[in-house]
Amino acid sequence: MSTLIVLGTQWGDEGKGKVVHYLAEQADYIVRYQGGNNAGHTLIHKNKPFVLHLIPSGILFPDRYCLITNGVVIDPKALREEIFLLRKTKIPVKGRFFISEQAHVMLPYHKLIDGILEEGDIKIGTTKRGIGPCYADKVKRIGIRVIDYLEKDVFIDLLEKNVLEKAPILIKNNVDIVKLKKEILKDREELAKFIKPFVANTGFMIEEAMNRNKKILFESAQGTLLDLDFGTYPYVTSSNPIAGGVCVGAGIGPTHIKNVLGVVKAYTTRVGEGPFTVELFDQTGDFLREKGKEYGATTGRPRRCGWFDAVVVRHSVRVSGIKHLILTKLDCMEDIKTIKICVAYKYKGKIYKEFPASRTIQKYATPVYEHMPGFNGQIKGITDFKKLPVNAQRYVKRLEQLVGAPIDLISLGRKREETIEVNKKVKWF
Ligand code: IMP
Repeated sequence: MSTLIVLGTQWGDEGKGKVVHYLAEQADYIVRYQGGNNAGHTLIHKNKPFVLHLIPSGILFPDRYCLITNGVVIDPKALREEIFLLRKTKIPVKGRFFISEQAHVMLPYHKLIDGILEEGDIKIGTTKRGIGPCYADKVKRIGIRVIDYLEKDVFIDLLEKNVLEKAPILIKNNVDIVKLKKEILKDREELAKFIKPFVANTGFMIEEAMNRNKKILFESAQGTLLDLDFGTYPYVTSSNPIAGGVCVGAGIGPTHIKNVLGVVKAYTTRVGEGPFTVELFDQTGDFLREKGKEYGATTGRPRRCGWFDAVVVRHSVRVSGIKHLILTKLDCMEDIKTIKICVAYKYKGKIYKEFPASRTIQKYATPVYEHMPGFNGQIKGITDFKKLPVNAQRYVKRLEQLVGAPIDLISLGRKREETIEVNKKVKWF
């Protein structure tokens, strides 16, 4: 059994794209199990930056199989665009990229409703891609799956029912539902034909691959604090990026999961609304944003920046059973005089060492910081842990102690070679 889950331990944007790209070289299958085109991985291919939203970043390696499984929501138009982009870049997809027939399809009304809800009283700061409304339909048992999208009669019937159900909110917001329905039906003709060759029983494919002892990498989108159950609810996404999400989202049993790896940024960022205890509103926040190029790959929004939050990462390590951590963007902390690490939260005189479920505590708690001296000079380019400035080494070791999992790899840049293998003995698969 050679299965590895790679997931984000903060609010997404931890640099999973680079990590997956790094590990995909050793993998045979790369699988996306939740989320949709709300995610965005910036990759470097042949020295050119490249953004993928839906298709796993492993696609850049020839001969790897890439799957989008049932837990993902798929916008067929966005998928087609991404496939076109890959073809233009001369990256073949045919015969090695597949989508689950059970994945749910995102349609234009999902996007419209997402936008409308964001203008209302409960603003989540979503990516406005339609993710939440599409997952809501799935839970309401009125969703349309890829297999339904391919069967014209089934689709027409479901579309009728869905538009009727959504008519009040759409009409109230001046959407011409007759025109909308017509457009969706017209688009389906071409899109269904386009996606059909990629549609498969991905759960079965994974089982077969496991039986042949193939190396399978499950790649999460977003991060633990955006998890529907374990994140900063309701300021979360509508799926489960945590390790448990793989079982439901890809259709494999928990006994088939061998290894879980968490990707963690050396500081913290988040986009969208919601509590963020360690947020910095000062020059250090601006410094991290600029040095770390902290702008959303999907929406271009500036990310909120803050110190490392050990409460958050400890929580992530626990809920996903993380065995290894990969630390990213340590180089973006060069030349900060004093570094702070949040080790606990304080609310009304009480100390919280575990991530609190209460919205009030999440919102109003203040961070309890530990201070450490920073490190000077350029560390980008260093490939040996012992060659890092002593203060950088101490920072890494302290983070490990606080979060309860070893940092076995450090990434100091987007390029593959900008990596320190702290523990050379680790077997990822
Ligand atoms: P949604 O997933 O578009 O519904 O957005 C819900 C929340 O998740 C918002 O705060 C988004 O900013 C956040 N979010 C969704 N996808 C990503 C991602 O890939 N990186 C970081 N934040 C994300």
